[in-house]
Amino acid sequence: MDSNVDYSRLKIPTHVAIIVDGNGRWAKERGMSRLKGHDAGFDNLRELVRYIMSRGIKVLSLYVFSTENFKRAKEEVGHLMDLFILMYKKELKTFMKDNIKVVFSGRDEPLPKSVIKARDKLVEATKNNTGGIVNFCMNYGGRAEIMDAVKKIAHSGVDVDRLTDEDFRHYLYQDLPDIDLMIRTSGELRLSNFLLWQNSYAEFYFPKTKFPDFHAEDFDQAIIEYTSRDRRFGGIKNN
Ligand code: IPE
Ligand code: IPE
Ligand code: MG
Repeated sequence: MDSNVDYSRLKIPTHVAIIVDGNGRWAKERGMSRLKGHDAGFDNLRELVRYIMSRGIKVLSLYVFSTENFKRAKEEVGHLMDLFILMYKKELKTFMKDNIKVVFSGRDEPLPKSVIKARDKLVEATKNNTGGIVNFCMNYGGRAEIMDAVKKIAHSGVDVDRLTDEDFRHYLYQDLPDIDLMIRTSGELRLSNFLLWQNSYAEFYFPKTKFPDFHAEDFDQAIIEYTSRDRRFGGIKNN
């Protein structure tokens, strides 16, 4: 998994987020079922995660299933759930070897118990790893996350008049830094309810490539593009 790109000359984002999209269309183009598209997407995901974490990215958030994705056909949802279990089981050893801590963002309900079990096992096994964080957003919704945080705050009895954005972050599913670079594959130009709070000042990158074809070289291109962006955070350009 070596790269031809010299990363020492590039700006390395701390937190990268990816909306894994286009598996269905990738399969359709090849006359295959959507399920086969997900198989290809998940094979690619395993490779890509290892590559990205080997490039010095500290946090990687992956949108693998939205709260709204439960609206899809039962067969497709069931297949994705099977793929999650398989991936969490298969990758446990690799995450341990690579010293990666795995966390999850999303609601439990209505995930199958078997998925929750595989998820919790991975979280528990990797909790003391220090070489980077992979945050799987599964049964995740940005509005649900903000609503859940507001409810936690209301129940905590905290003095809301003194609450800052920094404090608010601690009530989200995971206490992670803001996103620096947000990538959505497949050419769609929308967030689809992904990490609404954390994406406030992210740089967006929308490659047309569908996820099963988005490999290490495509990620390198995203980092090259990110390096050329001028992030101002509302301030004045300093050159
Ligand atoms: C994304 O690919 C994978 C998940 C939702 C888990 P899609 O299934 O959304 O693929 P398209 O957008 O229909 O091509
Ligand atoms: C968003 O993609 C969710 C994931 C990729 C997991 P969708 O394919 O579900 O989003 P829409 O329906 O195109 O907005
Ligand atoms: Mg899609």
